[in-house]
Amino acid sequence: MHSCREGICGACEVRVLEGTPDHRDSILSDAEKQAGKTIFVCCSGSKTSRMVLDL
Ligand code: FES
Repeated sequence: MHSCREGICGACEVRVLEGTPDHRDSILSDAEKQAGKTIFVCCSGSKTSRMVLDL
């Protein structure tokens, strides 16, 4: 494992508890992105004004 900061290694995966992620990684499938249950915080953001993460 390493920290790529480019959305390709998966080291920074965090569970999403609330909010809609703006996925910019190259790891999740389209279905996983649509589900919005996890986010790679090095490169992705939020489509909603509030997002709660399981840190
Ligand atoms: S640091 Fe590699 S996916 Fe985020």
